[in-house]
This record gives sequence, structure tokens and C-alpha cells, in this order.
Amino acid sequence: MRPARKVVVKGVILAGGLGTRMRPLTNVTNKHLLPVYDRPMIFFPLQALVNAGIRDILIVTGGNNAGDFLRLIGNGAAFGLKHVNYTYQRGEGGIAEALALAEHFIAGDRVVVVLGDNIVQEDLTSYVEAYKRQPAGAKILIKKVPDPERFGVVVFRNGQVLAVEEKPKRPKSDYIVTGIYMYDAQVFDIIRTLKPSGRGELEVTDVNNAYIRRNQMSYNILRGFWSDCGTFDSLLRASQLVARRKR
Ligand code: G1P
Repeated sequence: MRPARKVVVKGVILAGGLGTRMRPLTNVTNKHLLPVYDRPMIFFPLQALVNAGIRDILIVTGGNNAGDFLRLIGNGAAFGLKHVNYTYQRGEGGIAEALALAEHFIAGDRVVVVLGDNIVQEDLTSYVEAYKRQPAGAKILIKKVPDPERFGVVVFRNGQVLAVEEKPKRPKSDYIVTGIYMYDAQVFDIIRTLKPSGRGELEVTDVNNAYIRRNQMSYNILRGFWSDCGTFDSLLRASQLVARRKR
């Protein structure tokens, strides 16, 4: 019998976009380089991937400050890495468009995608290991929040994820999809079928719904604190949480 192919999981951090919701903080820099307490925002998703045992990492940058990522992170020596890969997203085509740029890098393996503005406390290793044991498909990490209408909201039926609704006016649950996604290589075929949403972007929520329709989506509920930094308030909250953890 031929041995089963080893499941290889690579990491992608999405740190493109123009950060228009965070002006004037983002007039002269990229949102993901702004400070979260004592470190640039992008250090958090990078550390989260490294802590989960992922060593092959691609950073998708964009905007006018892409070179600053290279100056800041280089080949990742501060994170114990030998090499970091970079690519560039032109404009603001959305999370799924940014991920499409990783197709060559992923090269048929699997991927943990982390949005560059997501701060997560919990070690992700057990979730990544569980995903590796999954025969195929995707996994999302979800979280109960007080303001679900800002996010992709999970619709449940009998404990199963029925769908994800992107920023609905009337959320059907308090559980939202965090910016940590695990996909197999089908994701790139799925992205090719997507059409831009009302905000002119290829939506990661449409990717997730495609996996849900294929009955290939699993989920776990994050336990520790999680925050995005996509608004002034969430950036402040994330900074306070990180500061408190240090004391
Ligand atoms: C994006 C996704 C949304 C998800 C969120 C997590 O939102 O579209 O589904 O819940 O990230 O941070 P955006 O940051 O584009 O508003």
C-alpha cells in the first residue's frame, strides 16, 4: 500500500488594502504596521502561525508601504524563521482576491490564512492539528462577540453551520467567523468562480459558503480573547488586552 501523502500546511498572512476606514492613521503607512501596544500589528498573526508550528509563510502586502514589511520582518529571524515570502496585492480586491495570489506558493498543499489585523490569544496548534486529520475541506474558527453585525455571522441549524452571512443588519447568532481560515487547495478553484460583492470585493464569506455547500466545513469556537483591529475602537481594545496580558 502506498503511504498517504503527508499533509503539509503553509501559512498566509493577508496584509494588503489601503486601510481607508482607519484614516488618517493609514495616510502614510499600512494598517498592519500600526502599533498594538508594544508591537506592530502584523507581529501578532505572524507569531500565531509560528507558534502553531508553521514555518512556510507568505505575507501578502499592498498599498504604498509594501517595502516597509520587508524592512521590518526581513527573513523572520526575530521569529526563528529562516525565510519569509512576500507578494503584492494591487488595489483593494478583497480577502479572496489576495488569497488567490498565494496559489503558486501553496502548490497543492493546505493553508492557514490569518488576516493581518487579527489578534488571537489562544495557541492555534490543536486546531491546526485537528484540521490536518480532516480528510479534505476547510475549517473556520469562530467567536462569540457583542457586535456580530460588523463581521461574517454564522447561521446554525442543529449545531451545524448552515451558512455565513457577511455583515447582516439582523445577525442570526452572536457567533462570527474570525479572520483565521484553513483551506485545502480547492480554495483556488472556488475563488475563480466568485463574483465581486456589493463592496466590489471577492469575499472570503463566499469561499466559506462554497465549502459549507460541499459539506466540507468544520469549525471550532475560540476560547481566549480575539479581536480584529479594523476600527479605532477595536484597535484600542486590542492594545489594552495585549497590555493587560503583559502585566
Ligand atoms: C473580514 C471578513 C469577515 C470577518 C472579519 C474578521 O471583514 O469579511 O467575514 O468576520 O474579516 O476579522 P473585513 O475586515 O473585511 O470587514
